[in-house]
Amino acid sequence: MEKDIKILAIESSCDETSAAVVINGRKVLSNVISSQIAIHTKFGGVVPEVASRKHIEAIATVVNEALIEAKLTFNDIDAIGVTYGPGLVGALLVGVQYAKGLSYALGKPLIRVNHIEGHISANFIQHKDLKPPFLCLVVSGGHTFIVYVKDYGEFEVMGQTRDDAAGEAYDKVARAIGLGYPGGPKIDKLAKEGNENAIKFPRANFHEESLDFSFSGVKSAVLNYLNKMEMKNEEINKADVAASFQKAVVDFLVSNAIKACKIKKVDKIAVAGGVASNSFLRKTLQEEGSINNIAVLFPEPILCTDNAAMIGSAAYFEYLKGTEAPLDFNAIPNLKLGER
Ligand code: KG4
Ligand code: ZN
Repeated sequence: MEKDIKILAIESSCDETSAAVVINGRKVLSNVISSQIAIHTKFGGVVPEVASRKHIEAIATVVNEALIEAKLTFNDIDAIGVTYGPGLVGALLVGVQYAKGLSYALGKPLIRVNHIEGHISANFIQHKDLKPPFLCLVVSGGHTFIVYVKDYGEFEVMGQTRDDAAGEAYDKVARAIGLGYPGGPKIDKLAKEGNENAIKFPRANFHEESLDFSFSGVKSAVLNYLNKMEMKNEEINKADVAASFQKAVVDFLVSNAIKACKIKKVDKIAVAGGVASNSFLRKTLQEEGSINNIAVLFPEPILCTDNAAMIGSAAYFEYLKGTEAPLDFNAIPNLKLGER
């Protein structure tokens, strides 16, 4: 039997400081997440400088907790994985520098991981038999992609947003209707009490073959609607706004996802990123998937939003290829999927 590979992974690209220990890319021994949401809520969104400082305060404790929970010491670890982009540069640098320090001090290999690749890899943890090729819909606060996962670490981007990311649109609309940050989960909850057909918000129309997205139009339509109602002194039904907005976004995501499966003739689509925990997206895509004989896979919610376990999974598949990062690599805030 081959030796188990234990990876200590670190994630600090946005507002979560996280460390995890993952075995063979699939089994999570620990996944410690220290969220800064409470601090950023006061400002209505993530303040980059505050995020960096909070990562510095948390990182040593979070890493130590991850080892304690996994019942391991630094000596038991085979390699260290770290997110180096995309994300907030100051936030990323905290994780990257910490990981470099550990790698140097312990003499263990360091593996750099693309955050989006990490989100996709959350599905390898959740679905133990999942292997490429498959399609993945990546929907987070900063990114919206339809990706064909050709092999581990090999991607073909088939479609992406031309403006706002799906999660970003959720957050902006939530702020406009006074729900606060982060808006996605709050809209998800409120929409359950509303009528998704109450207000018709328009959807961008691209060329029929395009798999791209656009969410700034629907966001602006919501803002215009709210303004108009205020000017007319009419009462706004926030639950209806939330449900109708959500329907416009989810319909767009689901129709492109199904279209991509048909183009690639694949019968399996995985979903990744914070918005993948949205209950309406989960329900709608499952329904459309079963109509079209496509299996729809989601990670559990804790593996959808930012966490280090997903980074540990992606790092493992890089480790198998023998790709070790030099100690002079840098954080790359606008790192593209599939680039180094
Ligand atoms: O993947 P993630 O944790 O961070 C990024 O890499 O961006 O995603 C965060 C995003 C936020 O925009 C948040 O509002 C959204 O995911 N989100 C949701 C839900 N939970 C988190 N959006 C819709 N419904 C949810 N249940
Ligand atoms: Zn993320």
